[in-house]
Amino acid sequence: MPPAPQHFLPHTRVPSLLLPNSAAANRFVAREIDKLVRARNAAGKPTVLGLATGSTPVGLYRELIRLHEDEKLDFSKVITFNLDEYLPLPKEDPHSYFRWMHETFFNHVNIKWENIHIPDGTLKPDEIEDFCIEYERKIRAAGGIDIQILGIGRTGHIGFNEPGSPKNSRTRMITLDSITRRDAAAGFFGEENVPNQAITMGVASIMDARRVFLMAFGEHKAHCVTKAIELPPSEAVSASFLQEHPDAIFLLDPAAAAETTAIKRPWEVGPVEWTPERVRQAVVWLSLTVRKGLQKLNDDDFREHHLYELLREKGPAEKIGEEVFLDRLATIQPYPAGRLLCRKPFWSSRRTRTTT
Ligand code: GLP
Repeated sequence: MPPAPQHFLPHTRVPSLLLPNSAAANRFVAREIDKLVRARNAAGKPTVLGLATGSTPVGLYRELIRLHEDEKLDFSKVITFNLDEYLPLPKEDPHSYFRWMHETFFNHVNIKWENIHIPDGTLKPDEIEDFCIEYERKIRAAGGIDIQILGIGRTGHIGFNEPGSPKNSRTRMITLDSITRRDAAAGFFGEENVPNQAITMGVASIMDARRVFLMAFGEHKAHCVTKAIELPPSEAVSASFLQEHPDAIFLLDPAAAAETTAIKRPWEVGPVEWTPERVRQAVVWLSLTVRKGLQKLNDDDFREHHLYELLREKGPAEKIGEEVFLDRLATIQPYPAGRLLCRKPFWSSRRTRTTT
């Protein structure tokens, strides 16, 4: 099978690989894990994986299970650390990440139970701090995380590092953002059932991993992904700190990449071929941005919005605006149900009344 088309998006502050779909991203990350685990197994050494929950990594876990079953990928020397857990929540609760991880992944591979680490959602308030210090110590004692898997929340969080999480934060208790709780509501059968707090590995704990793969799929991730990869790193979007990581990659499907400059306004990041579709995309975008009708656009509007090349190739502005206007006009169907060519007299369609 030929390799699926993929390329790094230009103009991002962190390498961002655009893949044709989530399955291709899952295969990409699974391959990297597979290579590392086999190399470490051969050397008799452990592999330390940082794992995430949520809908995003499900396909990756399925692929890893497939590699275990069909290609004998051996997890017996793999050590895992999960990013987070709701608090308070018993392990056996149907919504706990503990249970989710076992049902989705651990129960299907030959990982040793003693090698699995997940923050404990059953801790009493006065036990939390010691637990978090010990969690960090265990990560260090295992040799540090080799590969960290991440999703991204709509607040731009990684793990549960909600907006305001500092770059030097470590494993700790955190209060969940209302957007995050709303997003989790369906799984918990109502927002009121979503715990208010969680234990999460910190931004610094994640940044310590040797390699990081952040996966994001679907249009609901497009805004937070764009902020994370295009705006300067800030506490407002904890995923943006990955820009400072020496080996972090974002893996995006087309929907999650849709708001990036490279996709939305490609003419801003390099030369483009002015195909009719691209001209339409640019001119409609310009008209919406400057809030002018297509036929009112002038040369300055094009010049001031990185569209000088389009102006030079196809201008002047009035001509381009008019062409796009006529093109759009041609798509309007005045009689969506089709024109009635021969109208029958109204009485011919009357039904005969029958009395019963
Ligand atoms: C939760 C998890 C994150 C995850 C995020 C996105 O907040 N703590 O680790 O990345 O949800 O979830 P999903 O992949 O379902 O969109």
